[in-house]
Amino acid sequence: MATQDLDESSITDAVLARMRRAKSARFKKVIGSLVRHLHDFAREVELTEAEWEYGIDFLTRTGQKCDDKRQEFILLSDTLGLSTLLTQMNHRSKGGETEQTVWGPFHRVKTPKFPLGANISEKVRGAPCFVNITIRDAKGKPVKGAIVDVWHSDDDGFYDVQHKAWNGAMRMRGIFNPDDEGRVWFRTILPTAYPVPTDGPVGELLKASARHPMRPAHMHFLVEAPGYDRLVTHVFNAGDEYLDSDAVFGVRKSLVRTYEKHKAGVAPDGTRMRKDFYTLEYDFVLRPVRRSKAR
Ligand code: BEZ
Ligand code: FE
Repeated sequence: MATQDLDESSITDAVLARMRRAKSARFKKVIGSLVRHLHDFAREVELTEAEWEYGIDFLTRTGQKCDDKRQEFILLSDTLGLSTLLTQMNHRSKGGETEQTVWGPFHRVKTPKFPLGANISEKVRGAPCFVNITIRDAKGKPVKGAIVDVWHSDDDGFYDVQHKAWNGAMRMRGIFNPDDEGRVWFRTILPTAYPVPTDGPVGELLKASARHPMRPAHMHFLVEAPGYDRLVTHVFNAGDEYLDSDAVFGVRKSLVRTYEKHKAGVAPDGTRMRKDFYTLEYDFVLRPVRRSKAR
């Protein structure tokens, strides 16, 4: 066959043709589309060689910033809105079930279990907050065998893992089993807004985009139960100044609640509180696993 001079436009089909013997149809679809969009992107912006060199250096440094505690590529996906796009596409809401949002990097696998009513933030400075939630199905029936995993930031906007002086101690996080009515209640402190990590390439990107790095105050909830889709979500604090500009685009109206402020007095668990405290209530609705139709 005669040698062909590939040009700015024919190069795309040439690359796609080179993959034609790939075994997986899904691979061909995904990677083929990626090649087409990458080429279209370069053509659209007339990407210069200096810009692509910078881009390669940026991606290299993004990888180098990753370790067992830090995942800069996920942060990149979050801040570019890709994580939220994927969450929305993969969890299209149908029957009133609680909406999903981003997972974030601060979940820990060996979180301790607590009995109902426990304080998961003993000796941590912050405004006391009493949380009462329920785990039900769309018909309001308590979900049996659920596990509720909670984690959140402290009064200074840090997660426990970010406090070097805490030496890995687990605070502001815990796992609970709901009672027979699907209820979970516990005591903690009020979470505050915080910046996503900005000391890496993602921070550079945010700065160049004239964007702030803040996330509105929230508690994370991961709820798992046999026969139901895993729920990964947050409950945001209504009135937070960053609700409309979350650095990772994770806010959903249905996930915003007032963390009610109360004057010193008797708390929901009967404790006499000498300082003001907060309460949060939320009813989580799980979606049954969709069974794939027999072929
Ligand atoms: C978080 O909510 O913990 C979080 C989510 C995405 C990026 C950084 C932090
Ligand atoms: Fe968070």
